[in-house]
Amino acid sequence: MKKKIEIAYTQYEDLQELPQQDHELLQKASVAAEDAYAPYSRFKVGAALRLDNGVIVTANNQENAAFPSGLCAERIAVFSAAAQYPGHAIEALAITAKAQHDIDHPIAPCGACRQSILEYEHKFKKPIRVILRGSSGKIAVFDSMETLLPFQFNSDELPRSQEAER
Ligand code: THU
Repeated sequence: MKKKIEIAYTQYEDLQELPQQDHELLQKASVAAEDAYAPYSRFKVGAALRLDNGVIVTANNQENAAFPSGLCAERIAVFSAAAQYPGHAIEALAITAKAQHDIDHPIAPCGACRQSILEYEHKFKKPIRVILRGSSGKIAVFDSMETLLPFQFNSDELPRSQEAER
């Protein structure tokens, strides 16, 4: 039997159409992208997330001469938020990128980042709104990270003894 998974998201034509809070978060992600340390790829990613206490945490990608040692902007953002503000759920996360060329389509988080972000969605049982944009053009908004990672691996698969404390 063939089965199909559909992904629903909202597309906004430009920043003016975007709800104010999303616009603000995307703006902060864009500023953060400027300070990315990306001398190897020259692909600067910026992320900004809003916590349930109203705090906004920003991050950008950090590269390393030993390539796998760097980290994506999104994981730095969620790990940094979890380290600095433990116990606070993430309400929304905006991601954007800047390169030498114009990026006129939404930039989506890599698989490893989706998995890492999803962990906090599950932990706090609260959907994370995900706002994606390139350096210009349309914006894609997802109601949750789960939407972006269907058929996911999660802690329910682990045996009881290894299961995370809930
Ligand atoms: N990068 C991110 O920061 N986020 C992603 O979701 C994908 C890629 C970074 C990693 C690397 O520094 C550069 O973009 C090029 O892959």
